[in-house]
Amino acid sequence: MKKSFFNHIIHGGDYNPDQWIDTPEIWDEDMRLMNLAHVNSATVGIFSWAMLEPEEGVYNFEFLDTILDKLHQNGKEVILATPSGARPVWLSQKYPEVLRVEETGVRNEYGVRHNHCLTSPVYREKVRNINRLLAQRYKNHPAVKMWHISNEYCGECHCDLCQEAFRNWLKVEYHNSLDELNFKWWNGFWSHQVTDWSQINSPKFRGENHVSAMKLAWRRFVSDSHISFFENEIAPLREITPDIPITTNFMKLYDGIDYQAFAKKLDLVSWDNYPAWDKGNNLQEACDTAFVHDAFRSMGGGKPFFMMESTPSLVNWHNVNKLPRPGRQELSSIQAVAHGADSVQYFQWRKSRGGHEKYHGAVVDHCGHENTRVFKEVSHLGEVLEKLSEVVGEESNSQVAVVADWQNSWAVKYFCGYNNDHRDYFYECIKWYKPFRDKGISVDVIAMDDDFSKYKLVIAPFLYMLKDGTIERIESYVKNGGSFVTTYLSCLVDKDDLCYLGGFPANELKDVFGIWCEETDSLPEGMKNSAVYNGKSYDVVKVCDLLHSNGATVLGEYEKDFYKSTPAVTENSYGNGKAYYIAFRNDGNFADEFAKKLIADAGVTPDTAIEAGEGVTVRKRGELIFAMNFADGESEINLDKEYLNVASGETVSGKIKLPVCGYVILK
Ligand code: GLA
Ligand code: ZN
Repeated sequence: MKKSFFNHIIHGGDYNPDQWIDTPEIWDEDMRLMNLAHVNSATVGIFSWAMLEPEEGVYNFEFLDTILDKLHQNGKEVILATPSGARPVWLSQKYPEVLRVEETGVRNEYGVRHNHCLTSPVYREKVRNINRLLAQRYKNHPAVKMWHISNEYCGECHCDLCQEAFRNWLKVEYHNSLDELNFKWWNGFWSHQVTDWSQINSPKFRGENHVSAMKLAWRRFVSDSHISFFENEIAPLREITPDIPITTNFMKLYDGIDYQAFAKKLDLVSWDNYPAWDKGNNLQEACDTAFVHDAFRSMGGGKPFFMMESTPSLVNWHNVNKLPRPGRQELSSIQAVAHGADSVQYFQWRKSRGGHEKYHGAVVDHCGHENTRVFKEVSHLGEVLEKLSEVVGEESNSQVAVVADWQNSWAVKYFCGYNNDHRDYFYECIKWYKPFRDKGISVDVIAMDDDFSKYKLVIAPFLYMLKDGTIERIESYVKNGGSFVTTYLSCLVDKDDLCYLGGFPANELKDVFGIWCEETDSLPEGMKNSAVYNGKSYDVVKVCDLLHSNGATVLGEYEKDFYKSTPAVTENSYGNGKAYYIAFRNDGNFADEFAKKLIADAGVTPDTAIEAGEGVTVRKRGELIFAMNFADGESEINLDKEYLNVASGETVSGKIKLPVCGYVILK
């Protein structure tokens, strides 16, 4: 199904004309250059609050009027931002409560950005006010096509207002019952029972920080606070501009907010993509980036997303800011589109002259003209994107899903025990995502509360914590014919990190998997076990469960230590489906091999019959097929039939060579 707010791929990015208010000739030059660069959109106003409201209640929208008109006259579509990501100095000076309080209890002074209190009624009111004025003023402006809310929501605040809000949140979560809270947090441990709500504070280094259930509750509260702050921001926009879609830009695998919950509030998901290309492992970087694209697409229910930011050249915040080689950014942008992005947007259009980000890549450099490598690459890409309008709105239809659940990532991080060296939960998910991507199979990346039933195969690595209802959902998915895979230390605790009694996997999942786990071993760095599967030996690293089969078929066994010859890989038929347990952490080789069996068992079919050479990923979106070479040398693809090369308009068949950073789009 196709549904989109636009009928072409958006090509543009962050545009900060307010920095050039004294040189309006530069604004005109920007328009000329945008046309040359095949840029069709600009995101404006992200950090304009001090310009829009230089003093409390004194407004200056004229510059924005001029810019929006200029952009419109030049055929550009505008994504208009709300400015809460950075507030004017006067606001903090007059209302110190808007300043964030650190975990230490110290209130920040004014500075940098993204650092407001999430609860402060004053800040919420000020934000609503400026947003209302923006909406009223531009509701009928023909250039304005989307709202960009704030910027990269992140962090947390520990002020008294937030502490009180936390307690109120807990009252709702635990049905106003301290008994329930004490039970769920297992507060009898170390005599931590609370007898009054006022005794509860946020987790602190010099305070309560050993109660994992409480840390989970705090993280959920902070996440909900961001969402409620967002809802406060958009209230006037929904009222005044109900037809203008709303997004906010997320950050990669940032885990301070439950993005999977937040995404449900957006009309369109967007994220800021800054891979560390050309720094040593482009294949892994490409895989990690693909995973994140797929995660954001899946958060929007498979609908297209926006790549709201990316750099057209380097960034300024790595320790060492390597220039991406020619063609790299174009390939990186095409990768986004292949995975479901309906936009390629940059931070930033024009380099700032001063300030913290003056050496961050931009389409227009300090030299000010179009005769640069970067500008030419951007404009070439713009031409290509103009030929891809047919994929806009095209949704994905994956047969395979990997569960990478934001809340589970918190639970994995907070519990104490086993091996502290294996908490890189998302990367463990990527390990199981990679073999499918490598084989040209589209994968969704979902939360544990997303619908499993539309997939033939669901892989949930390290599914340590189970949200309410997950046990029943796994059970019914498998019973109804699904294939479900999980790995070590899975299905141990409920949402409050309380262990299921009776051992793990929890409750009836023991029947679904046909096993129970008795113990878990942890292997220090350099120490390995191995598991034999299909006559071959695979490394077992960091952590492994010791299992008993209660009916499951044992497909693999450990080869060393006192648990030699006990089950390491099991498969169980349950109802019409199958459940697999991989009891150990592998180094990728096992996942790669076992994926072949999973694909065959579950009847997963490849998305195309094109053969891809080393380092090439093939991805189908709608009727278009994207073949992209992420290898550090030339590679190739072998076509199964004749295709149209969409960029060149030629018919192609047989083998096609792809140079470094080369790609081809076929139909
Ligand atoms: C983030 C921000 C931008 C800018 C870029 C720099 O994504 O949203 O304002 O700071 O980083 O890479
Ligand atoms: Zn606060």
